[in-house]
Order: sequence, then C-alpha cells, then structure tokens
Amino acid sequence: MQARNRAFLAPGDPIRDDVYFTVSGQRAEVEAALARHERGKALPLVILDVDGVIAGRLTLSGIVRGPFQSCSVGYWLAEDQTRKGLATEAVQAAISLAFSDLALHRVQAETLLANVASQRVLAKAGFEQYGLAPSYLKIAGAWQDHLMFQKLSS
Ligand SMILES: CC(C)(COP(=O)(O)OP(=O)(O)OC[C@H]1O[C@@H](n2cnc3c(N)ncnc32)[C@H](O)[C@@H]1OP(=O)(O)O)[C@@H](O)C(=O)NCCC(=O)NCCS
Repeated sequence: MQARNRAFLAPGDPIRDDVYFTVSGQRAEVEAALARHERGKALPLVILDVDGVIAGRLTLSGIVRGPFQSCSVGYWLAEDQTRKGLATEAVQAAISLAFSDLALHRVQAETLLANVASQRVLAKAGFEQYGLAPSYLKIAGAWQDHLMFQKLSS
C-alpha cells in the first residue's frame, strides 16, 4: 500500500529511501512500531473501510506521561480511500481511545499550511489551532512551517 501510494503521500512525508517501500522495509517499520507500543510510547492502528479492507494507518505516538499526559496523532489514507469520511471517523475514534483507554490529557497534531483536508479532519474532531511552528519538520526534503493543533480531554 505504501508503494502504491508513494507519489500521493510524498508531499507530506520525509524523503524515504527505496528500501522503505519493500516488504522487508515495511516489516521493519511495523516491528519498530510494535516495539514502541510495547514500551508504552505509541499506539499504532490501521484504518479499515466499510468492507474491513485496510484503507490507511493512524498512530498515536510520542506518548509522554508525568505532568504532560500527551501524545501526537498522525494518519494517512490510500488515495483511492480519501473523501469518504474515513479519516474524520478514525481520528474521532482514536481521540476516544487516547482519553479513555490511555487516560491521556492532550492530543497534538500538526499539518502543513496547505493541507486543508487534514485541517478539516482536525476541526471536525474538535481540535483547536494554537500556533504556527516555523521550520518544524523536514518534509519532502525541506524544513517546513506547520500549523499546530491540540485537543484536551474534557
Ligand atoms: C488528509 C487525509 C487524511 C484526509 O482524509 P479523508 O478521509 O479524505 O478526509 P475526510 O473524508 O474525513 O474529509 C475531511 C474533510 O476534508 C475535506 N477534504 C478531503 N480531501 C480534500 C482535498 N483534497 N481538498 C480539500 N478538502 C478535502 C472533505 O471534504 C471534508 O470536509 P467537509 O466535511 O467540510 O466536507 C487524506 O487526504 C490523506 O491521507 N492525505 C495524505 C496524508 C496526509 O496528509 N495526512 C495527514 C498529515 S497531517
């Protein structure tokens, strides 16, 4: 799925080498994600369509405990699964997990300035924009500004 959607996802991703798009590269990615899960640092999830087919991924990452009780949410869909409301539904479900099962206080998200679709997903899930971080992440080979969002547990 990553290989099939390489061009679609590239504008929002770090530059990835060819190994990343192979079966062994993806196996290593999944193993690393599961290891982070084992350490309590992440919750890697898949997004299913109405037929139960894997449509994309969503990860709660960077889980920090202590006085912060916070994590970040990241998500993507296969191009042919977009514009069906799946991301909105997935983010809303993940927020519930973060605040109930994981007992977190805060979920953070960030988007490129031009990523209107992702900003809509976050707005519909009740995130508020709290800032603009200059040169926040190296995406598609360049340090890029990001809009910063958060949602707090009620
Ligand atoms: C961003 C992304 C997850 C949105 O997923 P999606 O399932 O298509 O989103 P939804 O169907 O839930 O739609 C959410 C809103 O965005 C709008 N939207 C979706 N794609 C859009 C696009 N390409 N341009 C403008 N608006 C768009 C929808 O119309 C909807 O708004 P509305 O409710 O006001 O009509 C998906 O496009 C994607 O995977 N993009 C590449 C990876 C990425 O950007 N991930 C997020 C990084 S922050």
